[in-house]
Amino acid sequence: MKFFVDTADIEEIRDLAATGLLDGVTTNPSLIAKSGRDFFDVLSDICASVDGPVSAEVTAVDFESMVDEGRKLAALASNITVKVPLTWDGLKACRTLNQAGTKVNVTLCFSPSQALLAAKAGAAFISPFVGRLDDISHDGMALIADIKKIYDNYESFRTEILVASIRHPGHIVEAALLGAHVCTVPPDVLRKLASHPLTDRGLEAFLEDWRSTGQTILG
Ligand code: E4P
Repeated sequence: MKFFVDTADIEEIRDLAATGLLDGVTTNPSLIAKSGRDFFDVLSDICASVDGPVSAEVTAVDFESMVDEGRKLAALASNITVKVPLTWDGLKACRTLNQAGTKVNVTLCFSPSQALLAAKAGAAFISPFVGRLDDISHDGMALIADIKKIYDNYESFRTEILVASIRHPGHIVEAALLGAHVCTVPPDVLRKLASHPLTDRGLEAFLEDWRSTGQTILG
């Protein structure tokens, strides 16, 4: 499974990229606004900091303008993936950009039928939002299971399932059990993946016992 980080905070991205465990970045207009920085400056910094795909979202809502914005974003760096919303215009823009060789992430997916359309439109990634479904008492992970089953039924579909709107490590484990290709994760949740109180307690005990021997490994 690939891990993308869901943020436009360049310090967080650089810190996580240094672990070697980061495969890409996703942004959206809300995350750009939260960064307080210029859109193009932020994207350039992110693209220079990670080797993998960096999703940059269009803000137009009509087909022609989405394609124009998508072309401009794609020209910024070779690892830009253009993000479009799951609307009819977005699907048309996905198809056009994909045919021109640009990778597209179709976002704001909340149903299996939407995911089916995105795959037919040639999306590189489909972004189902599990947390926002859970927030309204729907089952976000059931959507991932449905999409996986549908995509597995058709060899010609190349679209990767990019599980988005992740709220906690359990979402990532469930997505991995279902065989989703990618999770995009807020930095704090990504860090929680490595934490376990028994690991901390066990390490503390090992180190205390080691100190009592008076020995050192490096001399
Ligand atoms: C990622 O591409 C999405 O924009 C993001 O995961 C949405 O997450 P949220 O529901 O926490 O805003």
